[in-house]
Amino acid sequence: MTTAADSPLVQLLDPAHRADPYPVYARIRQSGPMQLPDSNLTVFSTFAHCDEVLRHPASASDRLKSTVAQRMIAEGAAARPFGPPGFLFLDPPDHTRLRRLVSKAFVPKVVNALEPDIAALVAALLDDAAAREDVDVIEGLAYPLPVAVICRLLGVPLEDEPQFSRASALLAQSLDPFVTVTGAAGDGVEERMQAGLWLRDYLRELIGRRRRDPGEDLMSGLIHVEESGDQLTEDEIVATCNLLLVAGHETTVNLIANATLALLRDPEQWAALAADPGRVAGVIEETLRYDPPVQLVGRIAAEDMSVGGVTVPKGDNMLLLLAAAHRDPELLDRPDEFDPQRPTIRHLGFGKGPHFCLGAPLARLEAAVALTALTARFPHAALAGEPTYKQNVTLRGMSELPVSLGVTSTRR
Ligand code: HEM
Repeated sequence: MTTAADSPLVQLLDPAHRADPYPVYARIRQSGPMQLPDSNLTVFSTFAHCDEVLRHPASASDRLKSTVAQRMIAEGAAARPFGPPGFLFLDPPDHTRLRRLVSKAFVPKVVNALEPDIAALVAALLDDAAAREDVDVIEGLAYPLPVAVICRLLGVPLEDEPQFSRASALLAQSLDPFVTVTGAAGDGVEERMQAGLWLRDYLRELIGRRRRDPGEDLMSGLIHVEESGDQLTEDEIVATCNLLLVAGHETTVNLIANATLALLRDPEQWAALAADPGRVAGVIEETLRYDPPVQLVGRIAAEDMSVGGVTVPKGDNMLLLLAAAHRDPELLDRPDEFDPQRPTIRHLGFGKGPHFCLGAPLARLEAAVALTALTARFPHAALAGEPTYKQNVTLRGMSELPVSLGVTSTRR
């Protein structure tokens, strides 16, 4: 039996593998489903298994259903000390009710209407970048774009950004599977808890302001729903805005940055996109497969489940290593190659089933506008050094991506 200490999962958590975790993922995938009974954990890493778990009716997202959580509650821990979680971590009927209330704001028709605003934001960011010649693409484009868009959508003042970006970064770390895998509390738990409390207080205060002075934004819309019936509570508005704010901060940045890096490592691809913006959809889907911003997701077995020849006992946590599944040789040829021209690109980068990413149309649009403008305007850009990665395992991404923009800057 594999123990937690010698598990390749521990290697996955090691920051030394963050720049290129894919060889570790391959080892895990080749060894088949992994069960760590002492940690009540089962890990799936092939495409077929991850796909099956995501669609399985006994797959739950509410962490309270796990044996680990139930044991802690039995030992006296509070069930939800910070109020309800975002609906990402809820099951029906609460998940269905809350998701329905915000889904209208994220359908393609509504999102596509944001395109002119997104294009204007991108143009302004690239104007600033052009003045500098060498830029960090994270700081100059990939981070500020999605942050400005989600703040505008939610009605969160961009001036407060420095404060909540720190909180959001800390909360993103709390999605890492350090507790379930190693059994250790991990570093920075207290700091992450404080960040969570701070962000909730911040949002509560902002909700108070919007209640007195509503705007056209999503937060004001949710407050209106709360005030006109018993469909949701203030705690649920806080949790929902918290989820959207963190999702808006910590994911699309990595899609834009990972695509930029993959294209720059293959200058022909960069030049091809610069010349033909019609290629951008392939670039985005291939990035979501090849180097996905969300590397893994979790589920809990609400019943005993049989997947991939193993029985997952009721209450076990399941880790689905999407980044490993996407390079499954059973799924496609040349899985370790970045090839946006593949005739079909299948991936689970936005999840699957009832929790399929609500922000997918928005993320795709932002990335499309950013990548077409960046390549068209700087067709001779090149890497100006190696990227630096954050420690995050789940929401893995770069903290710095140095790029030399090249001499030719074409104003679009
Ligand atoms: C490239 C960018 C993004 C990626 C790769 C991504 C990926 C994902 C994935 C994999 C899930 C499913 C999680 C699970 O099944 O447990 C998810 C759910 C979700 N995403 Fe995204 N996401 C991105 C951008 C966004 C954006 C911009 C927003 C909104 C502002 C957003 C909002 C959400 C929400 C609300 C959920 C929960 C859906 C539910 O539980 O019903 N995402 N995302």
